Amino acid sequence: MNASAKLVLDKDFMVGEVNPRLFGSFVEHLGRCVYTGLFEPSHPGADENGLRTDVLDLVRELGVTLVRYPGGNFVSGYRWEDGIGPAADRPRRPDPAWKTIETNAFGLREFIRFVSEVGAEPMLAVNLGTRGVAEALELLEYCNFTGGTSLSDLRRKHGAEEPYGVRLWCLGNEMDGPWQIGGKKPFEYGRLAVQTARAMRMLDPDVRLVLCGSSGASMPTFGEWERVVLEEAYDAVDYISCHAYYEERDGDVDSFLASAVDMERFIDAVVATCDHVRAVKRESRRIEVSFDEWNVWYMHRPPSGVDTPEWTVAPRQLEDIYTVTDAVVVGTLLITLLSRCDRVGAACLAQLVNVIGPIMTEPAGPAWRQTTFHPFAQASRWGRGTVLRPVVVSPTHETRAYGEVPLLHATAVLNDGGVTVFAVNRDTARPMPLELELRGFGEPRVVEHLALWDDDRHAANTLLHQERVRPRLVSGESLVLPPLSWNTIRLGA
Ligand code: AHR
Repeated sequence: MNASAKLVLDKDFMVGEVNPRLFGSFVEHLGRCVYTGLFEPSHPGADENGLRTDVLDLVRELGVTLVRYPGGNFVSGYRWEDGIGPAADRPRRPDPAWKTIETNAFGLREFIRFVSEVGAEPMLAVNLGTRGVAEALELLEYCNFTGGTSLSDLRRKHGAEEPYGVRLWCLGNEMDGPWQIGGKKPFEYGRLAVQTARAMRMLDPDVRLVLCGSSGASMPTFGEWERVVLEEAYDAVDYISCHAYYEERDGDVDSFLASAVDMERFIDAVVATCDHVRAVKRESRRIEVSFDEWNVWYMHRPPSGVDTPEWTVAPRQLEDIYTVTDAVVVGTLLITLLSRCDRVGAACLAQLVNVIGPIMTEPAGPAWRQTTFHPFAQASRWGRGTVLRPVVVSPTHETRAYGEVPLLHATAVLNDGGVTVFAVNRDTARPMPLELELRGFGEPRVVEHLALWDDDRHAANTLLHQERVRPRLVSGESLVLPPLSWNTIRLGA
């Protein structure tokens, strides 16, 4: 048994309100995220629009509130007009970003149908790689203009009488990345972004716009990129994006389990840069972070042997199988996003289906939950309300990447008279007794303690063993967090 940890919660000590947009996800035209992922007209369980109903059910259960689309790297070479109108008339095109063939059978209308089926908000990205202000305006007109203009009437002709009313828009994707089609220098992007943003606001003043931050905190231009693009565009945007992916490298599980330390530092640095530019510009409005790509992604793992031939339609790409350890890391990243809800206004788990996704499918076959599905679903279900500012007293250990790190990582959300504690035990070997000191709550009791852990930290859910890993009820006189575990502890009157 580990030394015990303590969480002190006071009802009056709050971080802020959770924006439901924190529980977003991401659908890119990449691998099998769209095709044979959420869209497969020939699947026995497909609805009349070609959407897989088994996937729709799982997305609803996951509690996704927002979906970013259509990319990702894909968007920087995409012509949105390819994905509208009768499917039979749509062009097949090469996608240089992922070296695949895009059939365009799935496009804007299908995406809007998908988000309305799952009750989520759409978040669209405009192409600022090969395109610019004019095409962004045209897409906005097609989506949000009521009627009586060429493109809004075209939408109506395509069967969508009512405007789509898309509020959230990304001004390109990872424009700092040398891999990005049409990637830019910071000043160059800042100018293009501000011109696009101003024009979009003229057409629809209700849009909320996301400026591209760095594609990762390890980019050589990180920090300077943010400063320059914000100096150009501060007054015309609402959010700046952060993207981060983590993986276990060289068997260093302790550093991997401490990935949230990096995410916290990343958010702090971006917020500091936003506030610096705010001060220089004498602005009163604060910019929020849109953490619109985050996850575990095994980018450096040798190829799995799965055949992914180039220039084919929807090959198997980025189909990571997630373990218990990965799910616990996803849990710690969720704790960080909740803990910084005062400045993080939107976030998207990248991605939703098959491609580094919490949901997996087989063509013509079943759909199932990866291990990472569970912490996300629980955080989305019980993590709405007010995040409290806990005092965490925890044993620590040394990690190679981040030095001394607490073994307990936790946050708490006040909702409907109850409190939910989300907690991770980073100790891979020993359980951790947890004492809760609650101030100002009366006499709450533990309603339920669910934990995700396994004797085999590499255990995963697969086609053959779809339910191998799932949250389990923990009982006992006092609270004990199993070794290497994600915990949801619900307290009520
Ligand atoms: O999510 C996979 C890719 O990661 C996205 O296309 C890109 O934006 C990021 O680099």
